[in-house]
Order: sequence, then C-alpha cells, then structure tokens
Amino acid sequence: MKTDFISIADHSTEWLDHIFDLTSEIKSRLKNNVRYTPLEGRTVAMIFQKPSARTRISFEVGTYQLGGHALYLAPTDIQMGKRESTADIARVLSRYNDCIMARLFGHEDMIKLGKYASVPIINGLTDYNHPCQIMADIYTIFEHLGRKEDFKLVYVGDGNNIVNSFLNISAKFGFNFVITCPEGYEPDNETLVYAESAGKSKIELLHDPFEAVKDADVIYTDVWASMGQEEEKQKRAKAFAEFQVNAKLVKNAKPDYKFMHCLPAHRGEEVTDEVVDSQNSIVFDEAENRLHVQKAIMVNLITGK
Ligand code: CP
Ligand code: NVA
Repeated sequence: MKTDFISIADHSTEWLDHIFDLTSEIKSRLKNNVRYTPLEGRTVAMIFQKPSARTRISFEVGTYQLGGHALYLAPTDIQMGKRESTADIARVLSRYNDCIMARLFGHEDMIKLGKYASVPIINGLTDYNHPCQIMADIYTIFEHLGRKEDFKLVYVGDGNNIVNSFLNISAKFGFNFVITCPEGYEPDNETLVYAESAGKSKIELLHDPFEAVKDADVIYTDVWASMGQEEEKQKRAKAFAEFQVNAKLVKNAKPDYKFMHCLPAHRGEEVTDEVVDSQNSIVFDEAENRLHVQKAIMVNLITGK
C-alpha cells in the first residue's frame, strides 16, 4: 500500500518523529558533503496550479540531491480538471513517475489525486492546508528552542491554510498554540475542534493580538490575502490593520522570542522590516528546512525507509 502526505492529521506522532529523525540525518549528510542518492533513477512530477518559489525550488533541488529528477508542470501545462480529468492525470502520471507533488486550489482535488494515483502524493499546498511547510516549521522550532514541548507559539493574522496545518500538528505534539485574528477570519472550525479534542496542546483563539503575544516563544505570521484571494486585498488590509507584527507588538513576547513566516513576506503589511530583519527572525532557517524535511518525506514515501 502506498502512503500519501496530504494532511498531517493522517499520520501518527511516531511517523512524524521518524520523518524528523530522517531529516536530521539527511541534513547532516548534505552539510558534510556526503552523497546520498536513494532516488537514483526515480522521478517526481510536480503539478503547480498556483505560483511558487520555495516549494518548487526545494522539491526540484531536493530530488536532484537524492539522485532523482523532478519535472515542473506549470499551471498552463497539464491543466488538470480542465483539459483532462484529475483522475486521468493521476493515472497517467503514475505510469511515468514514482511520486507526484502538487500545489492546488481545491483540497478535494488533492484527495482525488491520492485516490486515483498508484504512486505517493505529496501536498505542496491547497486552499485548506500546507503540511510540508508546517513540518519544516515545527522542525525549525524544535531545532531553535532545543525542546519539543513547553513552548508558546502565537500565530498572528489570517486563519488560513498555514493555521489549519498548525492545528493538525498541535494534535500530534503538545504545546501552547495561540491564534489571534480579526473576527470573521478564524481557521477551519472542524480542524479547530479536531485539534482541541485531541487534548495534546493547549489551543487558544483570541482577537486581541497584544494579549495573545504575551510571553510568546515564537511569533508567526503570514500574508493577509492568500493566493486566490487577491481581489480581497484592500478589504483585508483594513480588517487586519491591528494585526501587523511590528516592534510595538513583539515587545510583549519573551525577549529571545523567534519570529517566523512561511514567506513570501509582504513587508510593510503583515510584518515590518524591523521584525523580519531582526536578530529574533529565523525565517531563512525555516525556508532552508523545507528542503531537508521534504527530502525525508520523499525518501520515506518512495523507498519505505
Ligand atoms: N512558503 C512557500 O510555500 O513558498 P512558495 O509559495 O514560494 O512555494
Ligand atoms: N497562505 C499563503 C501561503 C503561501 C506559502 C497562501 O496560500 O498564499
């Protein structure tokens, strides 16, 4: 039976821990210039319905470093669901490739890909979630804090795909997860209920960002208008004005707090330069870890290691 990586909720804490161990091994090999090519002769098809820098580059570079080859399929190339059905694309790509990574609008389409493909599917973001990003983020938090529990992570901003994946991982590892957003911009309710009922983490939803960031170990933010919501940009800029992560807001966090952002950052909107460029910012370590974590996920799904 193949394993997909569509949502963190589908996997056990043991499996996630195994991926993190593998990540450390793969990262250390790369840092020490030790060749590691378990994907020799293997190919990964990458379907993109939305733009990307980090996801495309880290998967393409990662596959190459592992000895394999990745194919970039742009939004205009295969036009899944328009030129050809999602099920047929899944079946065809499975005949040529060992794995499919996809960045899509509809989460239902990702599930459909998983159902009809006979090779593993990796979710590179949907409107609902972004599990590879949050795997890299949690790995980065563990790395920087040197512990896997007893930390306060405060997400400031839109209750979007990033937050849904954080909620899913908060059901697997125990920490204090505080979400602060304007009313009407809360995360997916079913996912919130799932995370709360798992009983692993303490979850809080607050509408006052100053209260929320008090004594935070980590402050995280993301864009106010995600890909596909461009026409709401102005309306959202107004609604989120109080939720900018700036020098005044972060004063309430612990002095050695870490600032994180999945990037791309809209500097001057959800975060100011003084925060993103500060000593507390670990955004580029976070971006780098996308590479290492995703290599581990690919090695596990493709070779079973
Ligand atoms: N963080 C992230 O997924 O970046 P891209 O949209 O550039 O891939
Ligand atoms: N929430 C953002 C994440 C980008 C990596 C978006 O979906 O556009």
